[in-house]
Amino acid sequence: MIKIDALTVQFGGIKPLDALDAQFVAPICGLIGPNGAGKTTLVNVLSGFVAPITGTILLDDTLLLALSPRRRVGVGLRRTFQQELVVDELTAIENIQAVADHVSGDRASARREVALALDFVGLGERRNTLGRQLNLFERRMVEIAKTLIGRPRVILMDEPGAGLNEIETDRLRRLLIEIPSAFDCQLVLIDHDADLIASVCIETVVLDFGKRLAMGPTRAVLDDPVVRHAYLGRE
Ligand SMILES: Nc1ncnc2c1ncn2[C@@H]1O[C@H](COP(=O)(O)OP(=O)(O)O)[C@@H](O)[C@H]1O
Ligand SMILES: [Mg+2]
Repeated sequence: MIKIDALTVQFGGIKPLDALDAQFVAPICGLIGPNGAGKTTLVNVLSGFVAPITGTILLDDTLLLALSPRRRVGVGLRRTFQQELVVDELTAIENIQAVADHVSGDRASARREVALALDFVGLGERRNTLGRQLNLFERRMVEIAKTLIGRPRVILMDEPGAGLNEIETDRLRRLLIEIPSAFDCQLVLIDHDADLIASVCIETVVLDFGKRLAMGPTRAVLDDPVVRHAYLGRE
């Protein structure tokens, strides 16, 4: 569980997060909002790339902001990036192995975890393909596999569905739904695709201008007139 209290981030004159209170409790939670709402900034704060000026964040009973980014990985926090970070010159398995070298225990368990993650995302047969030869969907799968290494507790995914076609989105959907039970962890999903959010996320938080616009069961949140207005008004 992630509990956020009075979180404010300031960049010069703007506050991408403004006294934000929010909780992510369900096994899969959505984080949505119009462009510029502060979603990526929140992921950056949670993972330790951006420091807030005020606020507290609890990951279960751990005060997250007191930990370095590295320690946060140590307590099980994982994230993906909007721009995926797959190394072109490494194979699929080497990209994942590089993470295991940092977060897994011994070599044998690292090998096991890497093989499991590769199979889980459906890249078993592409394991020896170079990053640069993987298509967009396969690169996303490498990114997701990397988050599954080393006993994740919470995985933050920043728009894993962006640019995918319908068939790929459906494969992503089925994969995401399996993650919490298969890896005993929580998933926080950012996406623009309301259908994907509705079919995967039990609860959803909506941001707008750095503030919480809505929070609760996903269907109720998506049907909330205030939320619909925020989207229809600007997108
Ligand atoms: N490093 C930064 N410096 C200045 N402004 C930033 C920085 N990162 C994000 N912002 C601004 O913060 C706001 C929220 O951005 P972001 O968190 O990326 O939104 P989202 O992911 O919801 O589209 C935007 O107005 C953006 O321009
Ligand atoms: Mg973003």
